[in-house]
Amino acid sequence: MSKLAINGGTPVRTKPFLGWPVFGTEEEAALLAALRSGVWGSIDGTFVKQLEVDFAKLQAARHGIACVNGTMALSVALKALGIGPGDEVLVPPYTFIATASAALMVDAVPVFVDVELDTLLIDPSLIDAAVTPRTKAIIPVHHGGSPADMDGVMAAAGWHGLKVVEDAAQAHGSAWRGRPVGAIGDVGTFSFQSSKPINAGEGGMMLTNDDELDELLWSYRNVGRRRGGEWYEHVRLGWNLRMSEFQAAVLLEQMKRMPAQQAHRTEAAAYLSSKLLEIPGAIPLRVPDGVTAHSWYTYHWRWLGEPDGGLPKKQFAEALRAEGVPVFHGYTPLNRNQAVIDEIARLGGPAPVPCPNAEKAEADEILMFSLPILMGTHGDLDDVAKVAAVRA
Ligand SMILES: Cc1ncc(COP(=O)(O)O)c(C=O)c1O
Repeated sequence: MSKLAINGGTPVRTKPFLGWPVFGTEEEAALLAALRSGVWGSIDGTFVKQLEVDFAKLQAARHGIACVNGTMALSVALKALGIGPGDEVLVPPYTFIATASAALMVDAVPVFVDVELDTLLIDPSLIDAAVTPRTKAIIPVHHGGSPADMDGVMAAAGWHGLKVVEDAAQAHGSAWRGRPVGAIGDVGTFSFQSSKPINAGEGGMMLTNDDELDELLWSYRNVGRRRGGEWYEHVRLGWNLRMSEFQAAVLLEQMKRMPAQQAHRTEAAAYLSSKLLEIPGAIPLRVPDGVTAHSWYTYHWRWLGEPDGGLPKKQFAEALRAEGVPVFHGYTPLNRNQAVIDEIARLGGPAPVPCPNAEKAEADEILMFSLPILMGTHGDLDDVAKVAAVRA
């Protein structure tokens, strides 16, 4: 192998990868239509209402309630399910901080249930041991767009009487055993933040099949109003968490692009996996059998090459970046996040337990490519694989 770029050699790849989002005249026209309508708020507008209908249909849910972002969608879901002070909520540690901070925002304590090392998804076999008399809910995360094992989660939740909030922030278009995610549990929440498969810079969505929960989610998002009530009639304490018409106008157009983009990423992920499998020590994540559609929001893989003379994970990632491929380390497990630990202590909750798999994933194994890499051509992915094969 010629000299590595990190040691002053020539990078394998100098061409930039595709950018995200992809947009065109359709989004421009939609934004202009929203602007010229003169109705920019969702209360009297049409775009947010249409998005709620269309997105709920995409994910096979009865009700969709749009909101400001995926973080508040999770918090409002917990609030509507009656989760509050003194309650415990089971969450995986290997996820974005919002999964746990949403529970903390309603003064409930997140209790971590470790993930499987080869999927990074919550391990349902560990749920029983984490349940206490205070446990009220569980938040499975469809990590990277791969649905969590919803058979295992729903069975454990049923057994223990737990509410289920699916954190589907990354899982637009994903499905478990043919059923789109988001309304398998009590509520499902999505994010439309900049990096997501459907995005408007910011935005969120809550889905449910339950008519009463739909009313509550709508009300909490809308300053505690009630449908059909007076403007200054606030029947409960809620917040203004409404999405604007501009966001929904863009999202409706982005939704139309999504099926073809998701199909592209699905094919690209299979191609990339086949290429990585040719490299000693590079192991794609296992996609559980029940996953019938995957958003491929991100592509995580395991680096097990160090014992055979490869670089340790973090040095390896630096070497790959120097060769021109943006690769990331993944999350710091939330059971190790000091802000989360401090907040749990403030609430008097139990200190987070060790989560050996999430910790190992972060320390030694997991590397991640973000969505734009999977929007590339086979030529782009060949470059990615060529770079992943570099050896010190
Ligand atoms: C797993 C997960 N949960 C929740 C969120 C929060 O969504 P948002 O950034 O829209 O608040 C994100 C977004 O990044 C996420 O990836």
